[in-house]
Amino acid sequence: MSNRERWGSRIGLVLAMAGNAVGLGNFLRFPVQAAQNGGGAFMIPYFIAFFLLAIPLMWIEWATGRYGGRHNHGSLPGMFDTLWNHPFAKYLGVSGLFVSSIVLIYYCYIESWTLGFAYFSLTKGYFGEHSITEMNSFLRSYQGIESGHFDGFGTAYIFLLITIAANFYILYHGIKGGIEKFVKIAMPLLLVFGVFLAIYVFFIGTPDPSKPENSVWAGFAFIWNPDFSALSDAKIWLAAAGQVFFTLSVGMGTLQAYASYLREKDDIALSGLATASINEFVEVVLGGSIAIPIAVAFFGLSTATMIAQGGSFNLGFVSMAVVFQDLPFGNILGFIWFILLFFAGITSSVAMAQPVISFLKEQFNFSHRKSVFIVGAGLFFCVQFVVFYLKYGFLDEMDYWAGTFGLVIVALSEVIVFAWIYGMDKGWEEINKGADIRIPKIVYYVMKYVTPLYIGFILIYWTFVDAIPILLMKNQPPENVTYLWGARIMMVLLYAGFTWLVYKAWKINKHKYNYHNV
Ligand code: ALA
Repeated sequence: MSNRERWGSRIGLVLAMAGNAVGLGNFLRFPVQAAQNGGGAFMIPYFIAFFLLAIPLMWIEWATGRYGGRHNHGSLPGMFDTLWNHPFAKYLGVSGLFVSSIVLIYYCYIESWTLGFAYFSLTKGYFGEHSITEMNSFLRSYQGIESGHFDGFGTAYIFLLITIAANFYILYHGIKGGIEKFVKIAMPLLLVFGVFLAIYVFFIGTPDPSKPENSVWAGFAFIWNPDFSALSDAKIWLAAAGQVFFTLSVGMGTLQAYASYLREKDDIALSGLATASINEFVEVVLGGSIAIPIAVAFFGLSTATMIAQGGSFNLGFVSMAVVFQDLPFGNILGFIWFILLFFAGITSSVAMAQPVISFLKEQFNFSHRKSVFIVGAGLFFCVQFVVFYLKYGFLDEMDYWAGTFGLVIVALSEVIVFAWIYGMDKGWEEINKGADIRIPKIVYYVMKYVTPLYIGFILIYWTFVDAIPILLMKNQPPENVTYLWGARIMMVLLYAGFTWLVYKAWKINKHKYNYHNV
């Protein structure tokens, strides 16, 4: 049996897992998705997907991870190999290495913008860009998409380097000495900052008394008044499922990686539920109480929705930065907002690097230091394309295939491997081993039937509605086409590379992987 590293304490584990889940998705992606999909109409499919997809999958991932860790596997190829005695199992698991790495590549870059904007808030770097259009230009110029405030990519690049260095400094110190130590500081700070901002929003009320319809209350009403009439729109159901996957880091391979550092009898039922609940509190209560109500209060509902339609970062970066300029101590508030985003981001990105780091250590016997270095160097190389080709949709292409479609593929494979191949009876026993709560038996049936069917529907519908048109590059300006192919080639190469590494690893380690014969 394995003598791998372990989490130091339960609170450390829960905070690390919560940090893994709580990320940019909670504060940036969620408000945009909610605003784009009709606010109250979005929340119903969102909660349905949370209970029928995310919670069952989350427990499956924790159980898969703890089980794999027992056989010294911290990444999906090995985990699937322990659950399914078939030569193909390990190759199916390659998707877990792939998704976490691709998401890490572009996620780190976005994370670095939050650090940059925290700095610009403190130093009032964007103060003076008073309108949405001006602020949008500021962001685009920072990203090197258009000229203006910044000359080229230099500034963004510096913050990217700092971000990568910070990530790998934490990773270098390992599970207990790096990640656990860091989240014990970052997560409480994140919660304090988030609660502070959410409370602050209540006091904003109606900023312009001559426009009483523009108030934070109108923003809350937009999200919380259920709109049953929109429920027949399948796109909203897909968007809600996509958000639930992304925000809980389900289908990424990262929850499993963290769970692999648990002991055999450590509880996962309650800890898993606790971290999912923290994530939902942060997403729905905090994430839902900041960007949308503020945008509605300052710009009105229809403009706020238009801002959200304009791009994934417009609510979080653009409209927030405009509003901070009008608030007392706006630079401090802006700093709190963007540093909160940075903490949310970094506690997730370190988790995304973990599957490949443990893969290299466990399958190739590399030292921790060497593995961290290889992953860092690989990330540094790949992120260049994201930085320099951002304006051609390079990042969006990766976000679609890995961060949206890929998550669903991984989730479907793991629910099939766990509930149907390994078997739901054994799986249920595994989930309940050492459990501090009794999971209702109905979850057993949800895991076995409802979750895979639900994912199957999403996948089929998605393939026709989104994936095929995106694959064929419908609606893409001609100048983007070469770069989008570039993004695809990079992804295919990474996938092929991981597949080859898995092939090699199993050749080398054949004698070690005899868990099916014992
Ligand atoms: N779950 C992480 C997020 O929400 C990836 O950003």
